[in-house]
Order: sequence, then C-alpha cells, then structure tokens
Amino acid sequence: MAVFEINDLKYSYKKNPNPVIKGIHFSIQKGEIFGLLGPSGAGKSTTQKILTKLLPEYEGSITFQGKELKSYGADFYERIGVGFELPVHFNKLTGLENMQFFQNLYQTKAPIEPLLEKVGLLEDKDKLVGEYSKGMKMRLNFVRALLNEPEFLFLDEVTNGLDPKNARIIKDMIAAFRADGGTVLLTTHLMGDVEALCDRVAFIKAGEIIESNTPKELKIKYGERVVDVEYVKDKTVQKEQFDLTGIGENEAFVDLIKTHEIRTIHSGETTLEDIFIQITGDAYVE
Ligand SMILES: Nc1ncnc2c1ncn2[C@@H]1O[C@H](COP(=O)(O)OP(=O)(O)O)[C@@H](O)[C@H]1O
Ligand SMILES: [Mg+2]
Repeated sequence: MAVFEINDLKYSYKKNPNPVIKGIHFSIQKGEIFGLLGPSGAGKSTTQKILTKLLPEYEGSITFQGKELKSYGADFYERIGVGFELPVHFNKLTGLENMQFFQNLYQTKAPIEPLLEKVGLLEDKDKLVGEYSKGMKMRLNFVRALLNEPEFLFLDEVTNGLDPKNARIIKDMIAAFRADGGTVLLTTHLMGDVEALCDRVAFIKAGEIIESNTPKELKIKYGERVVDVEYVKDKTVQKEQFDLTGIGENEAFVDLIKTHEIRTIHSGETTLEDIFIQITGDAYVE
C-alpha cells in the first residue's frame, strides 16, 4: 500500500513566480526507504517541506495513508518524524533537555535515554548542546526525529558532513527503523547512503523527476553492456573488452578464455554515482 501518493505536485515560492516543483508524481510504499536524489537546488528540501505540511500552498494532490494531506491536523505530526537539513537545537540547553523540550510537543513519547544511547550520546546528555561537536549535533538531530515513535521518517541530508563512523551509526538506525516496519523518505545527494539503504529512488532535477526505479534496475539500464577481461599474453597483462550481449557465442571471447591465463573479468556494472552524474549532470542535455 502507498503511504504517500503524490500527483502532479507543483510549487512556487511567493517571492519568485517561477515554479521550483514542476508537476511531479511519485509514491512511497509502506516499509520502504525511498530516496529523493538530485543536485543542489533541484527541489528536494522543498518537496520534503511540502510533504511535512510546512508549505501548504501547493498545487496537485498528496495523500497520506489514503487521505488528502490537507485534511490532517496536528495529528499528522504525531505520526511522522522529521530530520531537518540543518540541526536546530537550543545551544543553551543540554542534549537531554533538548530532547525533553521537543518531546513535550507530542502525545506519544519514546524513552529518551535509550535513544541517546543508540547514537552514543548518553554520556554527553548533560553537556550543553552549544559544546557538542558537529557530529554530535547531527546525531542528536537524527534521534530527535524518533522521539514520538513515528511510523514515517523524513530525513533531509542527515548524514551530510559526518565522518564514516557517525554516518554508519545513523545508516544502521535508518535500516533498523525500516526493519521495525517504518517507512522513510530519504533526501540526499550522497550516493553511498543510497547504495546502502534505498529500496527505490527518484532523481529530481530543476523541479522535475527525470528517472525513478530501484537502484538495481538503474544499474542495469545505465550500466555498459560490456565485459572487460585482463589476461596474460607474452608475459604481460593485456586488456580486451567484449559486448555482453551474446558473449557465449562470441568466438574471440571464448577463444581468449580457453587459451590464456585470465587475471580479472568484470561486467560493466555502473555505480549510482556514475548514474547520478550521467542523468543530472551537465553532460545530460536533451
Ligand atoms: N524560501 C525560499 N524562497 C525562495 N526560493 C527558495 C526558497 N527555498 C528554496 N528556494 C529555491 O527553490 C529551489 C529548490 O531549492 P531546494 O528545495 O532547497 O533544493 P535542494 O534541497 O534540492 O537543494 C532552488 O532554486 C532554491 O533557490
Ligand atoms: Mg536541500
């Protein structure tokens, strides 16, 4: 079942009449991590703000759990958790006090200390957030989104600028949230996060979705259908490339692997980073 259904969504900021979201369609299914990907300025954060009801004056239709988003009141916020792009905390309060403050906005309350423990902040709970490092602030920002035991998580660039260890902690928690039945919209320009987490992705560029699929299908679609072979000939390593289509009947290929020592053999799988550049970068002009 679709948790979110977005149809022909359009949005313009008041100061600028040019739309920044230009009629996008997508849906997010229960239990999946959906990645909204694209370069800076593409409209990712705007889309997240619309879906979290912070920008109410959109055109088009959005349903959440089968009902128009516009028909929800404050009850909507009981069901979702939001990780903002830039951590917003009270620097003059401790980590624990920040969590308590934000938890008071909700009816459902998750136990705070186990959440802090999961992101390695329990020992620092009584320190002022103003004295936290960037990584600590980002981890606090992330667990804040879980304070009300949400069923749906919005995460806007939540691992941006984190070192690999901190990023891993957060990625593991996102995967655990899905394993417990949660659904996630992950907004990012970091393809490593996507490889590790996303079930489906949509690429957005200049307010339009230009591609949407599973990471695996995208790799097949954008990957080169080639096989690269490294082999030894005359005591040196040589390289040759073959077309993957019909490889079994390709006599040159079959002959090569029968008669030479093979060092490596790879099919031309592409990475999401290559795909990202290919379909959102300057080289992609239609
Ligand atoms: N408050 C705002 N007022 C006017 N324009 C904005 C505002 N916020 C973002 N924009 C513009 O909307 C477009 C999309 O921005 P944004 O959604 O933040 O992109 P992304 O998150 O993909 O980097 C950009 O051109 C940006 O300059
Ligand atoms: Mg953004």
